[in-house]
Parts: sequence; structure tokens; C-alpha cells
Amino acid sequence: MKVPLFRPSLGKEELKNLAEVFKTGWVGAGPKTQEFEKQFAIYIGAKHAIGVTSGTAALHIAVQALGIGKGDEIIVPAITVVSTPYAALYNGATPVFADVEADTLCLDPKDFERKITKRTKAVIPVHLGGHTADMDKIMRIARKHKIFVIEDCANALGARYKGKHVGVFGIINCFSFEAKKNITTGDGGMLTTNNAKLAEKLRALKWYGSSNDTWKRFAGNAKYSWHYDVSELGWKFNMNDVIAAIGLAQFKKLPKILKNKDMLRARYNRALRGLSWLETPKDASYTKSGFWLYVVRIKGGKRDAFMRYMAEQGITTSVHFPPVFHHSYFKKIGLSGNTPVAERVAKEIVSLPLFSTMSSKEFAYVIKTIKNFSGSK
Ligand SMILES: Cc1ncc(COP(=O)(O)O)c(C=O)c1O
Repeated sequence: MKVPLFRPSLGKEELKNLAEVFKTGWVGAGPKTQEFEKQFAIYIGAKHAIGVTSGTAALHIAVQALGIGKGDEIIVPAITVVSTPYAALYNGATPVFADVEADTLCLDPKDFERKITKRTKAVIPVHLGGHTADMDKIMRIARKHKIFVIEDCANALGARYKGKHVGVFGIINCFSFEAKKNITTGDGGMLTTNNAKLAEKLRALKWYGSSNDTWKRFAGNAKYSWHYDVSELGWKFNMNDVIAAIGLAQFKKLPKILKNKDMLRARYNRALRGLSWLETPKDASYTKSGFWLYVVRIKGGKRDAFMRYMAEQGITTSVHFPPVFHHSYFKKIGLSGNTPVAERVAKEIVSLPLFSTMSSKEFAYVIKTIKNFSGSK
């Protein structure tokens, strides 16, 4: 049997929405994009949501909209993907790597405060694997030092911190709908903010640097108005109605996806709790996880042997994520980090298969295979 790490829940609902878009012929940013943005903002509890092409694009323009650039520093956790530090680099700023908390794998507020310098302009906490960062502590430190908070919610659609959805704490917040996420549009992303001026700026930055996109000029006028001005250097990062059509159908499924993943997580916890060589994840009391990942720790230096064994049995596992500055590019540009906790835990963590359509057969096979890992003896 083969069990993948993720499998998207795509089907006739997405096809039906796509058929509507094909019928109208409006494949660019239009009514479906607006509808997805509206529904997303309501769900998160944010005033504005802005659709973009990816979580990476969202982070890129979030930093730009805040006017952060050359000579500035942005603190990011060591355990994340390159998109988080790239957001600083795309804008000419420098990412500074802070350590993570051993249990949650999210930004350690104490190390965040230690890494603040006169040049620090922002911090980007990552809600890793769906577990939320400790936002009260992070917000308190950020306020004290007058630093912007940008939440990286790419892993965490549906996650709540003390009852509130992630995506409402930072001044700007970024989501991803890439192939493996809780909901996917192939690729896609969303920004949320409560700040109307920033929302307007982000809308412009994602569309060449102009706030007057084609749909606005078309829909608002009986006669198509061709004119628009670009007032700053922007990008072509806008979401379109093909992506949004898939997104709207996926969004409807989100409660069910979260419920199924929650159930699977509880079943994993019950099935694996007794193993001495494997640690199941611990959720902090403040978090209601968004269940993107199920991350266990393999003790005794056997993580890599375990992953090889699982692959031989047809089960895909992965590591989310090794310290991001280990990538050769960061070395090439002279960046590194002093994050001992991240270094230690990154050698133990493994993400096991977790997706809402995982069958009982698939689940039973994964559990049986884990329990038969002879490297544990
Ligand atoms: C923590 C984190 N931030 C940002 C991103 C970037 O999202 P995207 O792949 O949509 O660009 C990812 C993607 O996996 C992620 O895991």
C-alpha cells in the first residue's frame, strides 16, 4: 500500500465552480475573487482580505506595504520555509533568525526579544504546522519595541489563538493555498488586515502598483474605462477567478476538513502514545491547532532511519522544517543563525501523513508500520 503525506480533497464542487467561470469567460480577477475575499475576511474576522497568487507573494508585499527596506531587520523563526526570510530579502532588508520553543516549534518570545536591535522593524511569527505562536507575548514585546507584526499563517488556516482565528493579530497577515495546505487552489494566497489604508496599498501592490484593476474599470462602468495610473512599483500577484472558483469550493469544505484532521490527530495520539522512542505532539493550552501537520519526534538519533524505513514501506513522511538558514543560499549571502533549540529539534521531527480523506485502511497501515519499526528495538 502507498500512503502519501497529503492528498487534496478536490472534486465536483470545484469543477462546478470552474464551469461557471468558463461560461462567463471572465478568467481574470473578478466577481469570484471578490466573493472569495469577502467570505475569507468574514471567516477570519478581519476587515479586509486581498487575494494573491501565493503565500510568498503575500509576505513579499506585506513587508513592502509597511515601507521596510534597506538597512532594516526583520526577525523570523529559524524553523520555517524560505518564503518568510525571503520577504525581508525581496525588499532589501535583512532577516534575523530567532529560536523556536521546543514543544511548539514556533517563535520563542524570549529569543525574539533578545534578537531585537535598533534596526528591527518587524517580526514574522509563523504558526508552524497549524499550531499557533504565542501571540500575546509576541504582541506585547512588539508593542514595547514599536515593531510591526506580520503573521505567517501559511500553515494555519482554521487555527485559533485563545479562541480568535489567526490572521487578526498582526498588522498584515499572510495565508497560502498551495497544493498541500488545508485548502488548496493549486497555488494561491490571501492577505488580511484591519487597516483600510494598508488594504488599499496591498491591493495596488498586487496589481502593478495601481488600485484600479480591470474588473473595477469594467464592472463599475457601463462603458469600459481603459484608463489607470500606476503610482508605485507593484507586481502582478493578483488572484484570478480560476483560482478563486476553486478556492470558494474548497472554503466550503474547510470545516469538514478540519474536523476530519482533528479526529485523525486524536487517533494518532491514542495509537502512538505508548511508544518509548516516539513523542506525540503537545498543543499549548492557548492554541486550537489548524491541523495542517502531525509532527512526531523520533528519539535516539533514529529519525533518518525511521524515514527511510517508512519510505520503503510506501509511506511518505517529511520534515517541516530544518533551520531555514541551512540552505546554501543563506550561507552564500553571509547569513546564519544562533538557534540551538531549532538545531536540536530539527534532527528529531517527522511529519506523518495527515489529510482529511485518509481512509481507515490507510491509517491502520501507517500505525502498524510505525509499530513494526525495528530500529526502535
Ligand atoms: C510557513 C510558510 N510560509 C510561507 C509559505 C509560502 O506559501 P506559498 O507556497 O503559497 O508561496 C509556506 C509554504 O509552504 C509556508 O509553509
